[in-house]
Amino acid sequence: MNFRRIYNRLSRTYDMRHTSPTTLEIRKKEIPIVKRFASGRILDVGCGTGFHLPLLKNITGMDISEGMLRLVKSENPVLQASAERIPFKDREFDSILCMFSVLNVCNHKEAIKEMQRILKPRGIAIVSVASIWDRDYDSLDDKKKVRQTKEMKNKGFQISGEDMEMYLFSKDELVGLFEDSGFSLELFDSLFILQKPRWGDLTRFSFREKMRLRLERFYPKGYGCIYLMVFRKS
Ligand SMILES: C[S@@+](CC[C@H](N)C(=O)[O-])C[C@H]1O[C@@H](n2cnc3c(N)ncnc32)[C@H](O)[C@@H]1O
Repeated sequence: MNFRRIYNRLSRTYDMRHTSPTTLEIRKKEIPIVKRFASGRILDVGCGTGFHLPLLKNITGMDISEGMLRLVKSENPVLQASAERIPFKDREFDSILCMFSVLNVCNHKEAIKEMQRILKPRGIAIVSVASIWDRDYDSLDDKKKVRQTKEMKNKGFQISGEDMEMYLFSKDELVGLFEDSGFSLELFDSLFILQKPRWGDLTRFSFREKMRLRLERFYPKGYGCIYLMVFRKS
């Protein structure tokens, strides 16, 4: 899949997603974690249109899509590059952000290796992904729905459609991949456990849906559709 081309095409409408109640719920959970753990020199891998850049100092944004980067409004530096070949030297960064499904759409094994390489010892990687529980994604091309296949691949599910495919992770798989690359898990959280996310839908959550979201704190975290994880390099 050519995600550079796909995201170049999606870039014009991408920021509309930030007003969807599903995205707002994710951001609500994500922002305190990012602010708490990211420090020092920071690289935002797959920064998109730069949502996280104004939240932090000393941060550089990087994305494969020039269309997404063109929409970045922050003063922080950005560059076009791919997560699988990060154009920085070993141990240059204290923290990495890789937020909102970047790992679902790139070669995640290569990207994790690269993150390990450019982080200093004890450096932090903050990651958020769509999990295997999120089985009925809308297509990013809003016209056509992505059809979920039941096909299992490398222990994870893959959602396939005419327009894009996303690799979906189980908790154990993603933690295992980071551990194999020399990271340890520092924090795990998730959301959309009881309440399904409504991708591309701008209508607000009803009172009942909001209650379901609130109750999620009492449920086992491994079942959320969205995982938020913080890893520390050994
Ligand atoms: C869902 S967006 C997330 C953007 C941003 N992190 C956010 O939170 O809004 C996924 C981003 O990953 C980027 N991307 C996809 N494959 C990539 C790769 N191999 N290297 C770098 N960025 C990539 C896309 O261009 C897109 O901007």
